[in-house]
Formats: sequence, structure tokens, C-alpha cells
Amino acid sequence: MFFGHYRSKLHEQHRHFFAYSIAYSFSKQKRRNGLGQSQFFYPKIAYHYQVRYYLRHFCEQGKSHRFFENALISVFFFLLFAHKTSFSMKQFTSVKDIDKLPELIEEAFEVKKNPFAFKQLGENKTMGLFFLNPSLRTRLSTQKAAFNLGMNCMVFNLNNEGWSIETKDGVVMNGNAAEHIKDAVAVMGQYCDVMGIRSFANLQNRSEDYAEIVLNNFLKYANTPIVSMESATLHPLQSLADIITIEEHKKTAHPKVVLSWAPHPRALPQAVANSFAEWTVRAGYELVITHPEGYELDPQFSKGAIIEYDQKKAFEGADFVYAKNWSSYQHYGQILNQNPAWTVSEAQMQQSKEAFFMHCLPVRRNVVVTDQVIDSSHSLILQQAANRVVSAQTILKKMLENS
Ligand code: CP
Repeated sequence: MFFGHYRSKLHEQHRHFFAYSIAYSFSKQKRRNGLGQSQFFYPKIAYHYQVRYYLRHFCEQGKSHRFFENALISVFFFLLFAHKTSFSMKQFTSVKDIDKLPELIEEAFEVKKNPFAFKQLGENKTMGLFFLNPSLRTRLSTQKAAFNLGMNCMVFNLNNEGWSIETKDGVVMNGNAAEHIKDAVAVMGQYCDVMGIRSFANLQNRSEDYAEIVLNNFLKYANTPIVSMESATLHPLQSLADIITIEEHKKTAHPKVVLSWAPHPRALPQAVANSFAEWTVRAGYELVITHPEGYELDPQFSKGAIIEYDQKKAFEGADFVYAKNWSSYQHYGQILNQNPAWTVSEAQMQQSKEAFFMHCLPVRRNVVVTDQVIDSSHSLILQQAANRVVSAQTILKKMLENS
């Protein structure tokens, strides 16, 4: 009854808008496939006439009941057809920013096979990479990804090349900090089309770290798409590269993946471990996390994983072993254990199903993992590092599309 009424009342102009919605959907799809921009011609014209129609009828009919009914039905059709299409990605800060992971992985394989096929997307666009902490892989791989897409790229070490930054709101800035983060970010956004930010946890105050103050200021004030290049709690570009690497090497649909805590002389953030846990669970793998007691991750990230305190038992039947140190989340930022028995060595690997060894790097050899394991033919550390370019390029491509 309801739809019958509206079907019969559908004005020609609304059918036009309906057609626009379909055309818009196809144009998004085509552009995603790298077919250029001319397909936007029809939707733009249609949109122009539709807006003119509404303005004219608004003046003629005033705020009539029928006018608003007609406007609503057009919006309904627009949303119905447009929301399914690939709008450009506005932020990449966690796996939650990904709608369909299998499709993203397919896209990553496409990018890897044909890295220069989308060079027109980044023409005359500028990528800004902003670092508050050191980096080798993220810095170089994200630049290479931007270059492969035809972008210009600026790299800036915010902590020692810019003014010292205030991150708290409402403070009287009569101390060392010369510039507020909201001003700095808004200005940098004027120079960039996409921005990346690296801001580690300081491991002093858990609630401040887990509030992601720096990343959230970038999301709020940059006015450009934002890529996390490792935040206080997550490292999604690394995790995507890790998932691509596992997908390339897995022998079963749902491999057993073990995330093993390993010793380290310094307190490190939980970001890589949190992120790896989230992504592997989302990918549908069987994830076992093994660590000494007291190293439990924030359950919001480890949800869906099996926790096993016996490292050798955890390794049984593993297809992939991912070693990583992190400091305690419960006793925030503390080192509770440096027992070398947790170093990943041949002894533990023999429990596995000839597992592949993984680590995000940089790694402390013979502390986190022995030379024998990391230099073995089952080590995937270089493949992971190489896939950092693929991971970054896939995300930047999605940000540039339809932007
Ligand atoms: N894995 C990783 O993010 O390396 P960098 O810290 O060197 O960028």
C-alpha cells in the first residue's frame, strides 16, 4: 500500500534522481577499476537539474506536505543505491575502518600485481607523513606507496623539527609548548591531500594513551583523510601487511596463528600486538596468544583469541608464529618478566607444524628470537616488510578514489 502509493506518485524528476543514483553507483565502480573520470558527467548534470527542480518547487509550493514527501523519497533512493558503493576512505586507524576484509585483501593482491596501474589517482596530490617517533619501514614504505600512486610526498618529524606541541585542551600555554596541536594539524591539512601520523604510547598514563589524543586531533582538525602509521594502541598498516603475508603463505583456510610474547630489555607499547589480534580474529584465523601472566592485552582488542600461558603448548600445531614483546597493560607500561626461556627458538618451533616465523621488525636478535629461527627458510620477516608497501598503497588508493 505504502510503496504502491509512492510508486504511482513518483514524479518524472524523482525517476531522474533515481537514475542518477544508479549512474552514481556505476560511476564509483568504474572509477574504482581505473577507467577515468568522464563517467561523472551524467550524474553531475542530473544532480544540477535535480537541485534546480527542488529550489523552483520549494518557491512555488511553499512548504507543502507533498513537496517534502517527494524530497524524502528521492533521498531514500539515493541512499539505497549510493551507500553500497565505494565512497573514498576517510580514515584508516583500525580494522574497524574496513567494511569487507576479503575484498580489501583482493584489492591488495591487485595492487601488488600491478603497482603502477593507478598512478593517475595521485596526480597533483600531496601526501604528508608526520612522525612523533622513529621509523624505518613505515617511513620508507608509505613514501614508496605514495610515489607508486603518483603522489608527491612530504615527511616531517614533528617532535624535533617543528615547534614543541601542546596536546591538552584549554591550557594556558605559558610553558615550553609553542603551538597547539589543533592549530598545527589544521595548518598541515592546508598543505596535504592525505596525512599519515605516527604517535606512540608514552606508557606513563594508560587512560591518556588509550584515549589516542594525538590521532584524534588529526582526525578532528586535519580536514583530509588520515592514515595511522602506528598510534598509541594500534598499528593497522603493519597488521594489513601481516594478513596479506599470511594469506600468501597459508596452506589451510583457517590457519592456527600464535602470537607469542617475547622478552625485551625496554618497555614497548601494546600497539602491534593489539592490532595483530584484532585483524587475525577478523580474518577468521584461529588465534592463540601466549604470554607470562600479567601481560594480558586489553580485552577490547584480544576478544576472540585463546589465551595460553604455556608457550610450548600454544605452539603445538601452529601454522604461523608471530613473536612480539609488549609491556604490561594491567600494570601499565611495566616490564614484569625477562625470562630468556620465552625467546622464540628452535625448541619452541619444533612443537609447531613447521610454522612460518613472523615479526614486524625492528627485532632484538637472540633476545626476542634466535638467529637460527629468524634466518631460517621459514622466516617471513622480509615478505612482511615488502608487503608494507602493498598495505599502504592499497589504503592510499582507497582514499584517493572518488575523493
Ligand atoms: N614495523 C614498523 O612499523 O617498523 P618501523 O617502526 O621501522 O616503521
